[in-house]
Amino acid sequence: MLKVLLISGSPKAEGNTAQLIQECARVIQERGVETEIISLCDKKIESCTACGKCSELGHCSLEDGLNEILAKVRESQGFIVGSPVYFGTARGDVMAALQRIGYVSRKTDNFLAGKVGGAIAVARRGGHTFTLQEMLMFFLINDMIVPGSTYWNMVFGGLPGEVWQDKEGIETIRHFAANVADLVKKLHTSRESPA
Ligand SMILES: Cc1cc2nc3c(=O)[nH]c(=O)nc-3n(C[C@H](O)[C@H](O)[C@H](O)COP(=O)(O)O)c2cc1C
Repeated sequence: MLKVLLISGSPKAEGNTAQLIQECARVIQERGVETEIISLCDKKIESCTACGKCSELGHCSLEDGLNEILAKVRESQGFIVGSPVYFGTARGDVMAALQRIGYVSRKTDNFLAGKVGGAIAVARRGGHTFTLQEMLMFFLINDMIVPGSTYWNMVFGGLPGEVWQDKEGIETIRHFAANVADLVKKLHTSRESPA
């Protein structure tokens, strides 16, 4: 079964990022692709310590729960990450997770290569585009395939639930999620052999 793993990078279990990630998962499932959501709200992700042990271990040497996420990324064909904007950048734990996942991939078998996905940024007022660029650095250096949408994947909202008022933002991330699902299916569904 094809699967897209989605990470909600907010410390709020039911905040705006979580609600957007749930909406992406709904759209993806509607198109026949399995989803799983992981929230960073109950985790404390440390930064990469550059110990380099991942090249021998095949996983990260830090024991803070990231290896469970790594295993799920490995088995998924798609990977979407959402982050709230904090002072114009992605939340620290989000970048810590992405940097460690990327480093393990590069130091082992490049398991991220060819996976389809991208990033979503949510903020009350500003800083979305830089935050998206920051997160996309992870996708693009790791040989991943990032589809576009009808606008950049940015949604406005401050208090939990406010994102639903940003109709264009919601449509943008729905379209992005549909593109991820369709691309995963196109890449992984083998063509019928010619008669
Ligand atoms: C430490 C901190 C920094 C923030 N910095 C920004 C910012 O630079 N720009 C902005 O528009 N909103 C900023 N916000 C507001 C959040 O991005 C916004 O409330 C977002 O919807 C939170 O998403 P969540 O509900 O998923 O946690 C900040 C919030 C916090 C806690």
